[in-house]
Amino acid sequence: MLIDSGVNLRIVQTNHIFFFFFFFFFFFCGQNSKIVLFFFFVDQDELLWAAAWLHRATDDKSYLDYLGQAGNTGGARTEFSWDDKFVGAQVLVAKLVLEGKVPADSGPWSQYKNQAEQFICSCIQKGNSNVKKTPGGLLWFLPFNNLQYTTTATLIATVYSEYLSPKRASIQCSGGIVQSSALLDLARSQVDYILGSNPNGMSYMVGFGSKYPTQVHHRGASIVSIKKDPSPVACQAGFDAWFNMNAPNPNVLDGAIVGGPNDSDGYTDSRSNFQMAEAATVNTAPLVGVLAKLA
Ligand SMILES: *[C@@H]1O[C@H](CO)[C@@H](O)[C@H](O)[C@H]1NC(C)=O
Repeated sequence: MLIDSGVNLRIVQTNHIFFFFFFFFFFFCGQNSKIVLFFFFVDQDELLWAAAWLHRATDDKSYLDYLGQAGNTGGARTEFSWDDKFVGAQVLVAKLVLEGKVPADSGPWSQYKNQAEQFICSCIQKGNSNVKKTPGGLLWFLPFNNLQYTTTATLIATVYSEYLSPKRASIQCSGGIVQSSALLDLARSQVDYILGSNPNGMSYMVGFGSKYPTQVHHRGASIVSIKKDPSPVACQAGFDAWFNMNAPNPNVLDGAIVGGPNDSDGYTDSRSNFQMAEAATVNTAPLVGVLAKLA
């Protein structure tokens, strides 16, 4: 957390505000130039998550007040991701409840905690509507870049296990009581799967182990360095020369985690299969925290 107590960031108290972030991409290729604008806006989940982090960083009560007056705390979520951060806020508030810093019996505090725990219960297969698992044991949420959801769920399980442990607390799921150690077991099982204990015997972390994806959908990894091959590539010839080349990437993208297998544990190592073969920082980042705990 890079925010110190001198932080001067205020959260406007409204249910729905739109911060627009503009990203400009200017493509210039021969006669064809294109400007692509990406819009991102900040919504309720991000305001709550920001407030929870800022409270943790500054101990400033106004952030707690903000969390306390929120009408919508997200409900039971089906994923934790860059596009849905409610679980992050719920888990940070649940920590405050567990530590007795906010009352469990008044205001929305226990609601945050219950909703965080419903997500965790569904991951550990003891909820009302459980997250699907592949036959090989991977938590499987969605076809497009599934591992991003698996790694975030794994981080949540790890972190929550840490929150429960010193309090000797557990979670009462509809399918039974879940102890802190069971959450860590879940996290370990997912990490083991991702790193190679799976039906394909394949690590979905690039560069790790003896078998890993060789055709990651990633421009920098799939194009050879100009120092190695200075021959010119025509403006739109990159697809033929590199993208469609059915051969391993010339550069190994060490540590990247790809989108991963489908719900039957199947994986096709092909650059054009971007549902499975795309790497993203959101896939790897949560696992850094998990590995720091498990290593
Ligand atoms: C899963 O992926 C494998 C490998 O690409 C493929 O053969 C299989 O048909 C896929 N299964 C489903 C249900 O999509």
